[in-house]
Order: sequence, then structure tokens, then C-alpha cells
Amino acid sequence: MANALFAPLRLGSMALPNRIVVAPMTRSRATAAGVPQPIMAQYYADRASAGLIVTEATQISYEGWGYPRTPGIHTPDQIEGWRMIVKAVHAAGGRIFMQLFHGGRIASRLNRPMDADVVAPSAVKAPGQMWTDAKGALDHDEPRALETEDIKRVASDFAQAAKSAIGAGFDGVEIHSANGYLMHQFLSSNVNLRTDRYGGSIENRIRMPLEVVQAVVSAVGAGKTGVRISPGHKFNDIEEHDIAKLYGAYISALDKFGLAYLHVMRPLHEHAIDPVTMARGMFSGSLIAAGNYTPADAEKLIAEAGADAVAFGKAYIANPDLVERIKRGVALNIADEATFYTPGPEGYVDYPALVS
Ligand SMILES: Cc1cc2nc3c(=O)[nH]c(=O)nc-3n(C[C@H](O)[C@H](O)[C@H](O)COP(=O)(O)O)c2cc1C
Repeated sequence: MANALFAPLRLGSMALPNRIVVAPMTRSRATAAGVPQPIMAQYYADRASAGLIVTEATQISYEGWGYPRTPGIHTPDQIEGWRMIVKAVHAAGGRIFMQLFHGGRIASRLNRPMDADVVAPSAVKAPGQMWTDAKGALDHDEPRALETEDIKRVASDFAQAAKSAIGAGFDGVEIHSANGYLMHQFLSSNVNLRTDRYGGSIENRIRMPLEVVQAVVSAVGAGKTGVRISPGHKFNDIEEHDIAKLYGAYISALDKFGLAYLHVMRPLHEHAIDPVTMARGMFSGSLIAAGNYTPADAEKLIAEAGADAVAFGKAYIANPDLVERIKRGVALNIADEATFYTPGPEGYVDYPALVS
């Protein structure tokens, strides 16, 4: 039987030639001001044979900043930098969505080119540390709780960022509602201790994420909007006590928007829940799965578990021509963790492609 990864797929208004997706990955090669660099155009264009590229997490505002040298989409220079990247990817025949990011409490003000409050659903500081170029590893900053009225503004920051991404030529945007960042913090039971209409019951905890999705869909259209979730992923010290009910409500509500896709990342260190199967039962649109899958797993997920496409992270760091390698069944290069987030070309644009 033909490999399911190579069947074409319609995603929103796009036709993908295959179901192999570049997972969103922070690589910290932008400037300190969050402006994309030409080397990033090379990195993304080198991966244009993927069915779809999802960019690294990209800040929607100064308040949304987390990690050093990560790009934004909220200043004219950043937008122009991304325009160059999209042009390079399209010229190479690819399709690209931007992942829109607000880190919430996972932040250090020292990484920000302009000062802004560190915010979260509640004033609950994240354990652990973050790398800063100025002073090395530092504890996360103490966040302030967003005021009820702030939440509309955060949703409109997402919407403005989505408009700017589409204006820069992107094929769509992916809203980052995973991995312990702001939207996931609202879903959680340990960072969201609010007593207003955004906290407490499940209905209230999914309200902020749904308002963000509504704002983005209104700004650029559901067919250009994807959402990424990671049910049960404890990364960044997230606790969710009622995963099945919480995500049952969230995914069912997301289903009503008619999104381009739902991107489900499974927890990396425990596989007690299978979020792909869970989401498949509740989401009628296209489903992208991610989370340490091999090409063989991926084929099975599509053929048997109802995923429509599979995103690869580390395999894509080390194999720009992953599509061709899977097609030929040849060995994959192994990604070097030491250069995941370091500046410059090493470990970024120097992994060898196959010699044809
Ligand atoms: C270096 C690195 C950076 C990442 N950055 C992001 C990110 O910006 N946004 C996101 O949603 N996930 C991010 N992830 C998670 C990946 O998208 C992916 O889901 C995860 O690595 C599991 O897939 P894999 O085992 O195929 O790498 C990152 C992963 C790695 C290795």
C-alpha cells in the first residue's frame, strides 16, 4: 500500500502535496530586537518540500516575549523580515504558517528589547529558570495577574499579529495554546486561580483561549487559522486536573470555528493519555499530530488513528530534506541539542542534504 504520508491533503484553502509538517521550533536566530535574519530565510526555504512549515513561536507583543533572540511580528522591521522569509519559502515551492506566541509567565524582562510587564492569569511565579543573554540563566520573573479588561487587549494583540502575518504573505497562522505558555496557563488548574469569568469552572478556563481564537478568526478567517494544544503536557509546570472534561469542552468549542486544522502535541514523557485519539473523536476538521513520532509511527497514525498529517520537530532540525529521506527510506541525521538555541549558522543551516 502507498505510504499515507504522501497522499495530498487540503488544509483550509491550501493543497498540501504531502502530510509531512515542520513542527514549530524556537531556534533563537533572530536579532535581540526580534527581527528575522536572512539565515532564517535559508533555514525555512531549505524545508520547503514539507507539506506545511509552521514557524517558530513568534511574539505578538513585547508583553508576550519570553526567550532571547526570538522573533516578533509586532514592529515594522519584524514584519519586513518575515516578508523576506515567506518570499523565499514560496519561491522554493513551500507553504508556511506563523505560530503566534504569548509566553505569559514564562519570561524574563531582560530578554525584552522594550520593557513590558510579565503577565499571567494569576500571580503565580513559574519555577525554574530561563536563559538570558545579559546575565545567563535567571529565575522566571514574578508575573502580575492580567486584569479582566486586559484580556480583550491580549486577544486584539493576537488578532493584529495575525493580520500582520497575513500581510507579510503567510498562508495562515497557528495560535500557540500549548506547552505551558499564556493560553495553556489559562486552561490550567495551578496557574489560573482567577475568580472572575476567566477562572474556576471549565467553561471559564476555556473562555480566554476561545476569545483569542475568535479574535484571530475574525481578523484573518478560519481557513487561515490553526490552533496548537498539548493536553496533559506538564511542561513549564502546568497542571490540569480534569483533562478529559477540560479538553472535551475546549476541542468541541474549537470545532465550531471551522479551523484550517487542530495541531495536537502529545506529552513527551508520559503516554497515559492519547490526545490524538481523544481529539479525533471531537474534532471534525484536519488534525495534525506531533510528539516524538518516527516516520513509521506517522504513517500508522494517518492510516489507522485518524490523524491527517504529522509534524516532526527534531528530525526536521537535522534533515532539511526529510520528505525525500522518508520517501527513499534512508537514514536520518541526528539533531545536536547543543546548537538548538545558539546564534549563528552552526547546527542551523549546515545539516547535510542527501546527494542525489
Ligand atoms: C528546539 C525546539 C524548539 C521548540 N520550539 C517550539 C515552539 O516554538 N513552539 C511549539 O509549539 N513547540 C516547540 N517545540 C516542540 C516541537 O514543536 C515538537 O512538538 C516536539 O519537539 C516533539 O516533536 P519531535 O519529537 O518530533 O521533535 C520545540 C521543540 C524543539 C526540539
